Amino acid sequence: MHKAMPEQGRESAQILRDLEAFKDQDPQYKDGRVWSLVYYLDEDHSEFLKQSYHSYACENGLNPGAFKSLKKIETQVISATADILNGTEEVCGVVTSGGTESCLMAVKTYRDMARDQRGVKHPEMILPTTAHVAWFKASEYFGVRVRLVPLTKDFTPDLKKLKRLINRNTVMILGSAPEYPHGTIDPIEAMGEIAQKKKIPLHVDACVGGFILPFMAMNGEQIPPWDYRVPGVTSISADIHKYGYAAKGASTITYRSLDYLRYQMFAYENWPGGVFASSALLGTRPGGAYAAAWGVIQYFGKDGYRKLASDTLAAVNQLKAGIAAIPELEVMGTPRGPLFSYRSVAENVNIYAVGDQMDARGWQVNRNQKPAGLHAMVTAQHLKVVDDYLADLRASVETVKADPSLAQQGGAATYGMMAHVPLRGMVKKKVLEMYAEQYRAGGAELDLSSGAGGKGLLDRLVKRYVDYKSRKATP
Ligand SMILES: Cc1ncc(COP(=O)(O)O)c(C=O)c1O
Repeated sequence: MHKAMPEQGRESAQILRDLEAFKDQDPQYKDGRVWSLVYYLDEDHSEFLKQSYHSYACENGLNPGAFKSLKKIETQVISATADILNGTEEVCGVVTSGGTESCLMAVKTYRDMARDQRGVKHPEMILPTTAHVAWFKASEYFGVRVRLVPLTKDFTPDLKKLKRLINRNTVMILGSAPEYPHGTIDPIEAMGEIAQKKKIPLHVDACVGGFILPFMAMNGEQIPPWDYRVPGVTSISADIHKYGYAAKGASTITYRSLDYLRYQMFAYENWPGGVFASSALLGTRPGGAYAAAWGVIQYFGKDGYRKLASDTLAAVNQLKAGIAAIPELEVMGTPRGPLFSYRSVAENVNIYAVGDQMDARGWQVNRNQKPAGLHAMVTAQHLKVVDDYLADLRASVETVKADPSLAQQGGAATYGMMAHVPLRGMVKKKVLEMYAEQYRAGGAELDLSSGAGGKGLLDRLVKRYVDYKSRKATP
């Protein structure tokens, strides 16, 4: 059933109350129980973000010649970003709506550059398997074929294999600092050497690390160089709406020089609406998000970000130590930044069942696959919940150990099956179909999770797979 537009307008106070009430079913992130999606600190910080967003909620960054204030804001945000990424005066860039837009733009840029400079007609890009999904999206959107580099045992890309994948169609190589699934910082210096030798651009996806690794380093942490200090690095994406603690809708894509950035630009000179030029994916660009990003950089400054980085790292280290003390679990690889994943090393402890137990204790924990694990994107806010989290994790492991049949129930059964369904094409097709369903006007809400009375997206996928298997088994 459509919920039609109201015939008459309503009281603003009532509408605002409704908007607040809609949040009832959302994750309750303010108490530190959510481990992704939000970067919340406290109400003062949130209020400040809202007010700075507010001050530019109507302004449009589409045309830098119109709202000069927004261009000034953007330039200052890019300068501050270049500063912490150890860039020279030549570094240039654009504020985008988020990490995905920044990653998409890099792919478009390098595709067009290779086409223009080398006549590449069948572009390819080299990605470690841990590259964020945004890169796979860019591949589909821009027709750039992915060549995947497998990982070594320590969760870093196998550089020998990477070298072998380079050919005349290669338009870019990607490294992450850190990658999302396990928090590993890819060996950017070594990748930079390869890229420079072969004259291939190297993009560093620091959507996660861009606004925290520099401050960890300023605090004395030993982090191998991964930014513009590495000569082969030609561009970096760094999100302000993650560890910059900005309002949603703010990331940066910077390049070593205009020689690269100019391929990101778009212009159309024959439009009846006038000559049009644009620097990134969006048309209208939200002034509020850019104002809040500028505001938060001023609000914290290097000192403030160093303190946030220090609290985050304290939380990360305590969590890792607590997990290392649970014999059934281990942290995957050697994550150096603010996030990590852990898995089970005990046959009788199914990690997805542990995840279910954590959910039941009120935590919202993301699942990894290939290999199966639980994910923790740690922020400064989590420092105060470390002890509670570890106590619940220990209890969850004990519960699963005492009842291994939990691995065959609820979310554990669903995630386990989904990760192992061999027909990945079928998984993709069904996800696409079901995902689209939720966008019908008036359509029912779709639960993407599992365990929602068997009606979640994952549950439904598993059911279809089981049906498919039984059809195949029937002679
Ligand atoms: C490494 C990495 N790159 C890109 C992105 C995409 O960022 P966004 O969700 O802001 O589009 C993410 C998101 O988590 C990420 O972890």
